[in-house]
Amino acid sequence: MNGILCGSDALASAWYPVARSVELGPSPLSVTLLGRKLVLFRSADGNVVAASDRCPHREAPLSKGIVENGCLVCPYHGWTYGDEGRCVRVPSSNEGVPPPPRAHLAPHHATEKYGLVWICLGQPGAPIPTIAEEDDAAYRRINTPVDVWRTSATRMVDNFLDISHFPYVHVATFGRAQDTLVPKIELGPLDEEWIGYRYEVLANNTDIGALSSGQSSGVVERAMSTGFNLPFNVRSTITYGTGLSHILLLLSTPIDDVTSYFTFVVWRNDDFSVSAEEIIRFDLAIGAEDKMMLEKLDGVLPLDQTTLVSVQADKCSAEWRRRLIELMAG
Ligand code: FES
Ligand SMILES: [Fe+2]
Repeated sequence: MNGILCGSDALASAWYPVARSVELGPSPLSVTLLGRKLVLFRSADGNVVAASDRCPHREAPLSKGIVENGCLVCPYHGWTYGDEGRCVRVPSSNEGVPPPPRAHLAPHHATEKYGLVWICLGQPGAPIPTIAEEDDAAYRRINTPVDVWRTSATRMVDNFLDISHFPYVHVATFGRAQDTLVPKIELGPLDEEWIGYRYEVLANNTDIGALSSGQSSGVVERAMSTGFNLPFNVRSTITYGTGLSHILLLLSTPIDDVTSYFTFVVWRNDDFSVSAEEIIRFDLAIGAEDKMMLEKLDGVLPLDQTTLVSVQADKCSAEWRRRLIELMAG
């Protein structure tokens, strides 16, 4: 598969979320990852099977088939696939005749974490990053839909690592109160798996924002950190003076070089009194602002250090791009 992202073996060795676990119900799901069309289904053992969306028999799209008793049935001639994609039935052959050895699907690595289905097309190079709050009973997790953004995953990560766009792109949500000046960025490990920086911002805090911050003043101070985990995972943490902590995992998955899935996961140590829907309404509105901006930009983000003009506010993105190039170079 051609393309800077789609052609990279290193990127094929990373884990990417492609759907929410709850979406993988009684029907097969069609997703595209790094230019490859995949079918997902849940087999009888409860595990997710992910394979090329092409039947080995006559290349029918398996995602157009049905799942029966935990087996995926091809819509064309009914060949049937079970646990680990093994072909368990060829209806045109006599019962007892084993399917041809090459009839079995070649499954990709698939797992579920944080309410999401993650796929790795190659040999996994690094684990899915850890969010420690997942196992902390004081926190609840809130998942959001997987959306399609008409932009490159590289532009999304660049945007998520950048705070200088807040007073411009996020005027209608939280950005209006923020100083346009970005204080000196001190970049470093935030913990074992995340590299980034810490900062403080003033955020607008009205209407739905007040539901998210748990405070009613017009403007609130947020202590934040933003960091990356290669290739395209971004974690943003927000802590308010009240001790309320709001963690965002921002996940960009390349469908192809210039189209991506976007989903984010929230962890919060609140008292659970505000509904999950109300909590994420603010974050969804913020995401919509980024999406609207990014869909105006063309192509993949130039990754080298000379094509784009950068300033100190772009330090984190510059470091992420440097490490991404390194990763892609193997
Ligand atoms: S193409 Fe799938 S069973 Fe024939
Ligand atoms: Fe943004």
